[in-house]
Amino acid sequence: MTTAASPHTMNTYGRLPVALSHGRGLRVWDTQGKSYIDGLAGIAVNTLGHAHPKLTPALQDQIGKMIHSCNYYHIPLQEELAAKLVELSGMTNAFFCNSGLEANEAALKLARKFGHNKGIENPEIVVYEKSFHGRSLATLAATGNEKIKEGFGPMMGGFIRVPVNDIESLKKATVNNPNVVAVFFETIQGEGGVQPMFAQYLQQVRQLCDERDWLLMIDEVQCGMGRTGKWFAHQWAEIVPDVMPLAKGLGSGVPIGAVVAGPKAAAIFQPGNHGTTFGGNPLAMRAGVETIRIMQEDDLLANAAKVGAHLRASLERELTGVKGVKEIRGQGLMLGIDLDRPCGALMQKALDAGLLLSVTADSVVRLVPPLIITEAEADEIVSILVPLIQNFLSETV
Ligand SMILES: Cc1ncc(COP(=O)(O)O)c(C=O)c1O
Repeated sequence: MTTAASPHTMNTYGRLPVALSHGRGLRVWDTQGKSYIDGLAGIAVNTLGHAHPKLTPALQDQIGKMIHSCNYYHIPLQEELAAKLVELSGMTNAFFCNSGLEANEAALKLARKFGHNKGIENPEIVVYEKSFHGRSLATLAATGNEKIKEGFGPMMGGFIRVPVNDIESLKKATVNNPNVVAVFFETIQGEGGVQPMFAQYLQQVRQLCDERDWLLMIDEVQCGMGRTGKWFAHQWAEIVPDVMPLAKGLGSGVPIGAVVAGPKAAAIFQPGNHGTTFGGNPLAMRAGVETIRIMQEDDLLANAAKVGAHLRASLERELTGVKGVKEIRGQGLMLGIDLDRPCGALMQKALDAGLLLSVTADSVVRLVPPLIITEAEADEIVSILVPLIQNFLSETV
């Protein structure tokens, strides 16, 4: 169930009929005082949960010093966050922006310029079925969901679309095509229904990109920043991309985006090629620096792996074999329960039962809780969610 549009905000979202007012850790409260456990983290954003006792004073301190300067000047916190991302990724340089689509937009521009620098006038980028990269005109064109493109044509060209996890399709789609400059995908498709790319496939694509001098560009906006138990999900396959857009969890809720680049892509942009007023502002940079510092101090990668495995094992124990449950997928704290029918109604039912979650790709229940989640909190989510799914499946046979 969604409520009528507000009279003054554009009607872009089918909102559920509650307003959340504040939170602490995994717990949030609505304006009526009802409490919920947060299995969604603002769609994989609130890495440290809500009102984290280490993050809150750091952000307050930063607001008291400076929120925004601008990129006419050096911003030491940008250097600090860039150095940290370089260290964690094994790449070399970062550019900062404000959201996931902006990070992807920058990546797409990098790929085109990479091509132009090599004399390719009509560069083409390989993208994937069921992918999601954002809602700007370029990132929408890269996205593999026809429904959300309706009404916004003509779509920007220069993309070649292939299915996930199929190296032969990728080779076939690009055979004898000198215009290809990059391959661009999410390690685990989020909006596409929590669909992982297999490690072997990631390695095969890395090799192909090396052989053909293409950029390997991995959108880690949703699956990155520790969510899977590694800093970046592709690290499970022990590869390093050439370009990596980040956003969501990087600022624990403060809007931020970043594109991290390796040696093949780091020097493509020169002054005047790209920029954004707010990108890399001191407040967002402080949020990024502190998020990573706290994640390291509190060993949240290990926590994501451990509690994620516990959550998944509990869901598998309770739901495997239940008629209507097709598959439980994902890694760490990015999990999807794929049902055999549309299940958007579960968002309202979960809300009524005191649980925040989302349904993606129509039929996949998605859990992306804060990385500070404990096993007891994971058990609480399971104890609410399992009966909801069982009842939903028996009521909608
Ligand atoms: C993988 C991926 N890329 C890009 C985006 C777009 O990010 P934003 O909504 O910050 O523009 C999203 C958002 O869900 C995403 O999941």
